[in-house]
Amino acid sequence: MVQFTTDWFGRYPDYWTQLFAERGWRPDQPRSIVEIGSYEGRSAHWMLEHLLQHAQSRLHCVDIFPDRDTPTSYWHRFKANILDGPHAAKVTVTASASLPVLSAMVASGEQADFIYLDGSHRAADVLEDLVLAFHATKPGGVIIVDDYLIAPRLGELTLDSPKIAVDAFTTIYRDRLAIPWGQPLYQLAMIKTAERSPDHPGARGL
Ligand SMILES: C[S@@+](CC[C@H](N)C(=O)[O-])C[C@H]1O[C@@H](n2cnc3c(N)ncnc32)[C@H](O)[C@@H]1O
Repeated sequence: MVQFTTDWFGRYPDYWTQLFAERGWRPDQPRSIVEIGSYEGRSAHWMLEHLLQHAQSRLHCVDIFPDRDTPTSYWHRFKANILDGPHAAKVTVTASASLPVLSAMVASGEQADFIYLDGSHRAADVLEDLVLAFHATKPGGVIIVDDYLIAPRLGELTLDSPKIAVDAFTTIYRDRLAIPWGQPLYQLAMIKTAERSPDHPGARGL
């Protein structure tokens, strides 16, 4: 039985169910998801149960998983909840920061159907994750970034606020993104609509 100490995910399943249904996501078809920031596996478990029912579906969990050698590390709960669970064959895990993993995906051309960004909330890290996740997502695929509206101090945007990174990204990539209407917000979901924007010779200095 899965065991969690923390719930950072419980308010999202209703909207995720609606969003993925509207996108035509069929859980019984093979799909691939990358999760940045898995912690003890709560969101990973939900995705395995609800989005990745096909035997060929895959979930790649990426987390720095610090202090894996200490008995109290959340790595042990992730392992018990996900790697010792019934869906383990669909899961790969990389204990690493997101940057090298997403960079390797971009370098190899590997693209996922959905990337869930719930790792570092430092604005610079969020911006890097978003740009790399954009390239590592299939056209038509989904990117969700958690804690869009979190602020370390109420109403104050700092370099620890994902919002400044998300706003910069959605502004600059707006010709290649669709933002689904009617989101409950806090998180932000976006759809990658195209790999590249139409070429503009002026933008190449011509
Ligand atoms: C909010 S928790 C994730 C919660 C999880 N998605 C859930 O809903 O249960 C954030 C996780 O991101 C991890 N993390 C922080 N910085 C990271 C980075 N640069 N790359 C990958 N994971 C990171 C932390 O170790 C932590 O486990």
